[in-house]
Amino acid sequence: MIHSSNSMYKDQHKTVFFETFGCQMNKLDAELSLGLLLEEGYQIVDKADEADVILFNTCSVRQHAEDKVYSHLGALKTLKKKHPEVIVGVLGCMAQKDGKAIFKRMPHVDLVCGTRMFARLPELILNIRNRGSHVLAVDEDQIIHVKRAVSHRPNFYQAFVTVIRGCDNFCSYCIVPHVRGREISRTISDIKEEVEALVANGCKEVTLLGQNINSYGKGLPGGVTLGDLLSELNDIDGLGRIRFVTSHPADMSRDLIRTISRLGKVCEYLHMPAQSGSDQILKRMRRGYTAGYYRDLISYAREVIPHMMVASDFIVGFPGETDEDFQETVRLMEEIRFQNCFIFKYSPRTGTKAAELEDDVADEVKRARNMRLLELQKGISLAENKKLIGRVVQVLVEGASKSDSNKLSGRTRQNHIVVFNGSRESTGKLIDVLIHEVTDLTLYGTPT
Ligand code: 5AD
Ligand code: SF4
Repeated sequence: MIHSSNSMYKDQHKTVFFETFGCQMNKLDAELSLGLLLEEGYQIVDKADEADVILFNTCSVRQHAEDKVYSHLGALKTLKKKHPEVIVGVLGCMAQKDGKAIFKRMPHVDLVCGTRMFARLPELILNIRNRGSHVLAVDEDQIIHVKRAVSHRPNFYQAFVTVIRGCDNFCSYCIVPHVRGREISRTISDIKEEVEALVANGCKEVTLLGQNINSYGKGLPGGVTLGDLLSELNDIDGLGRIRFVTSHPADMSRDLIRTISRLGKVCEYLHMPAQSGSDQILKRMRRGYTAGYYRDLISYAREVIPHMMVASDFIVGFPGETDEDFQETVRLMEEIRFQNCFIFKYSPRTGTKAAELEDDVADEVKRARNMRLLELQKGISLAENKKLIGRVVQVLVEGASKSDSNKLSGRTRQNHIVVFNGSRESTGKLIDVLIHEVTDLTLYGTPT
């Protein structure tokens, strides 16, 4: 087990530039890594050319994300030539996946630190300084244990909390199990302690994270489940809301849906990617369910939890996806009426099962299908949001709105963004807002 250091590794070069790509888990890993560096006395700078240490926390889920990082790294060559003492590091999924190949392609990189090694970041940086050589740290079997510095949070009222790392599902297109390793759940007591510390520090809402969160508890003694964890956290005084992502339809139990309906703090919002509406594509994706099963599961969830909002991910242009397969996805989207959807063009990932299949859907077809789903979803989101006009919704006030600093913004339990006029004092509180105008992305209203 790796423990975070406690100011053991003093380093006089103390400014860090940190950029994160990818999912919420990566954002949280970035927050934890930065927390460790801040504890060591580092200061964050927002320009790479002002930093002693430049770190990228990377994503491998699609080629595009990797290309972006390699282009950022390439752009640092000149800076590194002028200032060889600056340390350049690649962390996270790409580091795990490409390992020492990164040094070959980008010889000016000093540190490659995998997905389970970031707790040792301060020590690794110091090793580079002392030895003046590259450091590769990609051990897969480590269990991460970072004593979280709860005061180093980008968001005062909300926090992400990892509850399970890794994924055992091996969907055929997905690199995650290859770079994030096997599923490892944290114990309920460990998680509860962290959430209590966050709440004591002012946090009102937690989002529990796991690549496959419905598997939470597998491997822990006593047969605990996500429902047990949610029940325990629901009892924490001062905590207002609990969310959890990402759900896998095949691992989502009806029992969990019933448990959620009983727990007042758990929000009526499910991010449960369908990925496709075609049974033959789902089979080749190795998702372990059919579109019919998915429909039934959503019907059940909506029956038990009437205001349940559902969000999904879809991949278009998976190998062999015909127009008919794609139409099945369109039909599923029209029928379920998701609150929002993330839509991705299929990107082959070396090492996955799907990469053995021919990437036979032309890029312009992928692009057209992507656009079609985005347009469809936009219309659905607008129509669904219009139904909220004249209704009162509960909002956790987050602070000034990004688009208009005279206004406040926050989120509903179902994850809609709400912008409204109101007093700054309501920041961090749960208030009621009457909705009078909407777009596909935002609700506008007045506190009641
Ligand atoms: N190509 C395109 N999209 C992908 N995703 C995962 N792997 C790939 C891939 N190879 C999408 C899935 C997943 C989301 C995080 O990214 O929709 O739910
Ligand atoms: Fe990837 Fe499937 Fe695991 Fe999600 S459940 S991380 S899509 S392998």
